Amino acid sequence: MTTIFSRLEHSLIYSLIYAFKPCDYDPIGNPHQVGQAPITYFRQVLALCDLPAEVGVDHPDVNRMFPADVIARAREYREIIGPSGTGAYSHSQGILGLRKHVADYISDRDGYPAYQGNIFLTNGASAATGMVLQALLAQNNDAVMIPIPQYPIYSALISKLGGRQVGYLLNEKLNWSVTREELESKLEAAKADGLEVKALAMINPGNPSGNVMSHCDIQTVVEFCAAHGIVLMADEVYQTNVYNESAQFVSAKKVALDLGLRKLQLVSFHSTSKGLMGECGRRGGYMELHHIDPYVQSQVCAI
Ligand SMILES: Cc1ncc(COP(=O)(O)O)c(C=O)c1O
Repeated sequence: MTTIFSRLEHSLIYSLIYAFKPCDYDPIGNPHQVGQAPITYFRQVLALCDLPAEVGVDHPDVNRMFPADVIARAREYREIIGPSGTGAYSHSQGILGLRKHVADYISDRDGYPAYQGNIFLTNGASAATGMVLQALLAQNNDAVMIPIPQYPIYSALISKLGGRQVGYLLNEKLNWSVTREELESKLEAAKADGLEVKALAMINPGNPSGNVMSHCDIQTVVEFCAAHGIVLMADEVYQTNVYNESAQFVSAKKVALDLGLRKLQLVSFHSTSKGLMGECGRRGGYMELHHIDPYVQSQVCAI
């Protein structure tokens, strides 16, 4: 699913749904619940990947039942998935050939190389966030800085895993960005309370604030994390949900690489739950580990 997603970015469909059907489901980002129609193409490709070949891609009437581009894409994926098919366990980071597609998407987006070895295909961003927090939070004074307002999975997972949350305030007057002073003062206060800040979560584009962080806003965060050896968890699940024409999504990885920051340890998250697909009931997503120690990465594989 992640591969399909990565091929079809930049659609306006979800933005139209969001613009015209605001309701109680909006804050939890549930596009189909608010009327987004499923996209036939994705479901046809998935069907042909799942079906045994003789009743799917190799059926004599397949060309009457499915468009040619769907059949071609399904054949490509079946080749990548291999003879075990879609029902089998795969590598714990996900099928290598599909991770390559994700890495290519990230490389095209950022203009910097991404490597399939650093990609983990996951059951959505929530599962990926849980894996990273589980790896990071070892003791009950281990803490994670989270934006206030936040998307509640962060507080929930931190508390479930026995860690501590340290809120940093987003400033509405500054387009919901955070200042370096705010970050430093919250870190100092946390240290004074005996906490060890292991990570900082950044949500861009923001939920629930809806802001799109500028290059400069992100610079503040990446420099802070790099300076203090704090792992940056960049939640970028809304990267294609940008409706303000004067704003543009820039990834945390791109900013870090633009700045030549060598010390930043970064994990970025994306999801098939948002954007064009918006299929949050079917789980799909990825995380990219950047500058994470290979031994630690191997431990994350085991989670
Ligand atoms: C900011 C943010 N991060 C993560 C998620 C969870 O995404 P997923 O469905 O991929 O677990 C959501 C869901 O709404 C979200 O709003």
